Amino acid sequence: MDTTTDVNTVSRPGDQGAKLPAFDLPDSIMAVKRILTGITTSGTPHLGNYAGAIRPAIEASRQPGSESFYFLADYHSLIKTSDPERVQRSTLEIAATWLAAGLDTERVWFYRQSDIPEIPELTWLLTCNAGKGLLNRAHAYKAAVDKNLAEGEDPDAGVNMGLFMYPVLMAADILMFKAHSVPVGRDQIQHIEMARDIAARFNHQYGEHFTLPEAAIDESVATLPGLDGRKMSKSYDNTIPLFAPSAVMKKAIASIVTDSRAPGEAKETEGSALFQLYQAFSTPAEAVAMRDAFAAGIAWGEAKQALFERIEAAVAPMRERYETLIAQPALIEEKLHEGAAKARAIATPFLAEIRHAVGLRRLDVVSSAATTARPKAQALPQFKQYREADGKFYFKLMSADGRLLLQSRAFESPRDAGQCIAGLKQGGDASGVAALGEGVSAEELEQALAAFAAE
Ligand code: TRP
Repeated sequence: MDTTTDVNTVSRPGDQGAKLPAFDLPDSIMAVKRILTGITTSGTPHLGNYAGAIRPAIEASRQPGSESFYFLADYHSLIKTSDPERVQRSTLEIAATWLAAGLDTERVWFYRQSDIPEIPELTWLLTCNAGKGLLNRAHAYKAAVDKNLAEGEDPDAGVNMGLFMYPVLMAADILMFKAHSVPVGRDQIQHIEMARDIAARFNHQYGEHFTLPEAAIDESVATLPGLDGRKMSKSYDNTIPLFAPSAVMKKAIASIVTDSRAPGEAKETEGSALFQLYQAFSTPAEAVAMRDAFAAGIAWGEAKQALFERIEAAVAPMRERYETLIAQPALIEEKLHEGAAKARAIATPFLAEIRHAVGLRRLDVVSSAATTARPKAQALPQFKQYREADGKFYFKLMSADGRLLLQSRAFESPRDAGQCIAGLKQGGDASGVAALGEGVSAEELEQALAAFAAE
């Protein structure tokens, strides 16, 4: 997170002795980088959650120039489970995990999603601006539909609207706090892109209110493999619990799948779940030493013992804090309430701004729209189709102020060109683009197209 190269990151005016008060700064050039992420409260935290999400998030929260928003996505959990005890227990466990792992709640915004009523309210305002076509394309929903179709069921059998609307709720989580950077696993990238689309479309319609977020995928943060070598995930039932008693931890580690190479035979680190887990919990020097030990034919049992010791060293002190915390749910509850108050100090006024923007306004306040120009965003870019002397069909996209945004390739028929335009409008298919207009960035094109997304 190099704050010197990030466009969203400029120093505060005060830093340079300028006289501008902070509130004159447009939001898009806020001094700090806002990081936001949530964990769905539907399970017990495992090693993968810790090494892949919680540990890097806590490290990031300590960086100067960052503001971190970390929350318990309990509304999202209702999509996955209808077991109330499980939701409550998981919320407690995940909250205790963040705290035990060293999250400084003074420094960050740490809250429970369902304590912020502005989030579901914003969800509705975004819902009215999100294309159904966009949501039809969400991977999780599509996977459910495809599975139903493959089984000869009704396409939407067993699909609740929560699953369908999942990306909009997530967009509300993110946009509410103007997050720049959203650290997530790869499976969530599409959701961040949808949040961008929804934000851009809203901004286009109602003026610049939302910050467009970006997914942050940290290549150096391992996606931990589970016991069977696939990604560690509750849905594969291959997890190692984070705070299990050490005997249980040891047994789980003993069951990590390895190959049949005997002690003394050289072993591959490549593709070894055991090695990857070791690496995630050791220093680079220790990992190098283990790599050598693999080459020198360390016995699997010995390697597992070494892994157990590494993990235990990292987890044991946290486990103690975790157990103390779990035994004091009232204390956690209090921390969450403090966090909610801190988050709502941002959410409440911002939602008021958004309500005003869409027209949910006091009746005795005269609208400024009658006197001021409509947001510039009202002017849509336009697709123009035409035929060239070569007999082929083409289109171009012109911005509202008449600049060429993109030029298509040649098509055999107007219908082919039209289909390509439809694909572009829906945000996906760029196969028909021959060139961008002069000085037009991919970003600008993306924003222009977002106005059409799934209309
Ligand atoms: N969908 C995320 C997951 O399952 C959890 C989540 C909910 C989230 N809202 C979010 C993550 C906002 C980042 C930002 O992993």
